[in-house]
Amino acid sequence: MNISPFIQGLPKAELHLHIEGTFEPELMFAIAARNHVELPYASVDELRAAYEFSNLQDFLDIYYQGMNVLVTREDFFDLTWAYLERVGGQGVRHVEIFFDPQGHTSRGVAFGTVIDGIWAALEKGASELDISFRLIMCFLRHLDEDDAFATLEAALPYRDRIAAVGLDSSEKGHPPSKFTRVFAKARELGIPAVAHAGEEGPPEYVAEALDLLKVKRIDHGNRALEDTDLTVRLAKTGMPLTVCPLSNLRLCVVEDLDRHPLPAMLEAGLMVTLNSDDPAFFGGYVNENYQAMKDHAGLSDAQLVEIAGNSFQAAFLDEARRKTLLDELAAYAAKSGVR
Ligand code: ADE
Ligand code: ZN
Repeated sequence: MNISPFIQGLPKAELHLHIEGTFEPELMFAIAARNHVELPYASVDELRAAYEFSNLQDFLDIYYQGMNVLVTREDFFDLTWAYLERVGGQGVRHVEIFFDPQGHTSRGVAFGTVIDGIWAALEKGASELDISFRLIMCFLRHLDEDDAFATLEAALPYRDRIAAVGLDSSEKGHPPSKFTRVFAKARELGIPAVAHAGEEGPPEYVAEALDLLKVKRIDHGNRALEDTDLTVRLAKTGMPLTVCPLSNLRLCVVEDLDRHPLPAMLEAGLMVTLNSDDPAFFGGYVNENYQAMKDHAGLSDAQLVEIAGNSFQAAFLDEARRKTLLDELAAYAAKSGVR
């Protein structure tokens, strides 16, 4: 996909990005080899050819299999640094990264190994690339409440590094209500929340995320549009949605990009942001998602600026950095003749 120079330079934040979903096949094979772990594919091409998904679960099966090769602190560092190096040239000025500790601790990898590797790369990205960052710890919703509580406990020594908790993995049959008490505990500790909701699951899951988990953002949220009252509520409260068009296409949440609900979301006055979710698996990083919506949903450059502005407004940023980035965006829009 050709990315317009305007999108390439547009200052933006990425708020919905699973670091394990940035694992490119080439790096996966390199790390597998150095850890003497077997991948069930003969080559990078064979692995890539397996990226044909009919739904979220199809993808998750391959996603969890891929992360099995991550073992050492260096592995988590290399994974995170590869992502930052790539998006540093794409106008990405701030990232809020999800990680799935249970995908690693369940295999015997220590929580500290995971977070230390990711954190070191994020700090390097801040100092060398001027990309600010936050880290969001997700609970895997297909696992039980006890497992989520144990994960929250394991995170306590690293409390100062956790900007928020999230909820991801298989949505259907695992409503937010399953984790009400865990999120209440996180809140008691002063940790805000986000949650995947309304990706494959019904609008009721979006309402539960708001009412029971008290989230500050909804990840995806597409299916909220099926409920008019809920849509009005999301608009009135300015609840940010982290929308991921290429993910929606590859996981068959939408039939094609021309029918993506983004225009309807904007029409309804929702506060949308554009993100990549699991870019190594879905055929594009954040700029490809912006470009796809320009090409298929007919978004104007002014609308892209508004969405980039939303990404800074919806971020867990300190106010000084937020102002710096919003000013940078305003200067870029003015220089580009976009009003
Ligand atoms: N984990 C990684 N990507 C995900 C997605 N799109 N939905 C739910 N869980 C995920
Ligand atoms: Zn996601």
